[in-house]
Amino acid sequence: MNALQKDLIKLTKEAERQTLPDCPWRLGLHLMPPVGWLNDPNGLCFFRGEYHVFYQYSPFNAEGGIKFWGHYKSKDLLSWEQCPVMLYSDQAYDVHGAYSGSALCGEDGLYLYYTGNIKHGGEYDYILDGRENNTILAYSPDGVRLGWKRLLLGYRDYPDSVSRHVRDPKVWEQDGKYYMVLGARTKDNTGEVLVYASEDKLHWAHINTIRTPEAFGYMWECPDLFEIGGQWFLSVSPQGVAEKGPGFENVYAAGYFPLFGDFRGNCELGKFVPLDFGFDFYAPQTFFDGKRRILIGWMGMPDAAYSNPTAAYGWQHCLTVPREITNRQGHLVMNPVQEIDSLREDSQEYLYSGECAINLPPLSDIWITCETELSLDLSGVSLKTEAGMLVLTVRDGGFGRETRTASADRLKELRILADTSALEIYVNGGEQVLSVRWYPENGQKTLTLSGKGRAAVYSLRAMRVEKYSLS
Ligand code: FRU
Repeated sequence: MNALQKDLIKLTKEAERQTLPDCPWRLGLHLMPPVGWLNDPNGLCFFRGEYHVFYQYSPFNAEGGIKFWGHYKSKDLLSWEQCPVMLYSDQAYDVHGAYSGSALCGEDGLYLYYTGNIKHGGEYDYILDGRENNTILAYSPDGVRLGWKRLLLGYRDYPDSVSRHVRDPKVWEQDGKYYMVLGARTKDNTGEVLVYASEDKLHWAHINTIRTPEAFGYMWECPDLFEIGGQWFLSVSPQGVAEKGPGFENVYAAGYFPLFGDFRGNCELGKFVPLDFGFDFYAPQTFFDGKRRILIGWMGMPDAAYSNPTAAYGWQHCLTVPREITNRQGHLVMNPVQEIDSLREDSQEYLYSGECAINLPPLSDIWITCETELSLDLSGVSLKTEAGMLVLTVRDGGFGRETRTASADRLKELRILADTSALEIYVNGGEQVLSVRWYPENGQKTLTLSGKGRAAVYSLRAMRVEKYSLS
């Protein structure tokens, strides 16, 4: 262990031992950082009977900073163990951040692929020069302890056409080989995905590049490539997209292209579809747990103009709940994994006609169906259809969040997971989802429905999160 590693471990332990000031916004249904800052989910996998969720973690600063890989694991997606940080930026090749990446489950352990970020001091544009972006493999024999790390690819190994923005490896095994996609920005500012192949997890060859015929933004972050029900999908978080309207109202977008053909050779991308229509959703990743494909996203947005009051309490951001992602006639549909249902403690049913006000428990799962046009208000957040659009408005207490729209001409069925400071709104069976952080005053939550229909409100108990200690 080098001196930097020793100090980072010590400082992280100290940061995590601090008692955070009593914060009314700590979450019960969503994974958040023990202290400091969280962004992208990383290394999602089901390994030796346990779910592992790693995430971009800056324990020393609630406003961000040097990035490590924080770690939670769980047998059932409900009781979580907070594990020690898996990846620190403690080598010359990852010294300015252990950036995002993915996990590959091996017979002999867990393989984590990530980007080692380096930013040189000096007069650089940090696009064409001044930055390095290494692809690194970290091996863990048991999924909790780090065995070794090894540099696989550096900026000189990527195609000549790309800038210094190449990152976020997603790796998987298929037909006895390993494949990797990397998000990239070309020298002429076009987002694309580099496809690599390997026989042994260590040596990688660039075999293809996937892009749209016309540029779709200048950079594609956090790519993921997967098949559901015979259809392939390339999901990316594109930056600099010119498109406007529903799903493109945030600083950056997050969504998918259906991919036709073989990603290793001739293939074409269909039309890009946003995955979420709320304010706070970015950098999603998926994994297959043997039965279903699960997606987790970051409930945050880089470079957003709005803020989160939790930063004053020493922490910021959370992940979405794990969502099962399915293919409904070529469209991806998301719903909370079924496990969430077993957090239910109590339920109340309502038949409403006209206006109906319901006091909500601290954590709830709300199901609403309506015969007429529905509109609702949830302590400052309203949702209604207007000229064939679903309009989400955060009236007050949104800390800068105002309005977002989704294209749903009719609001028939809604499911809302309402956590202390996070809302996930699933529309018409998960055809559209809106994720939003929200900060109702005094924690008091009232749901007002207008229209005619039925509602069921389940109160939920919080997930369990305990500290895992290495013996
Ligand atoms: C996306 C992202 C990734 C990068 C990581 C750094 O939010 O910018 O491209 O690897 O965050 O934290």
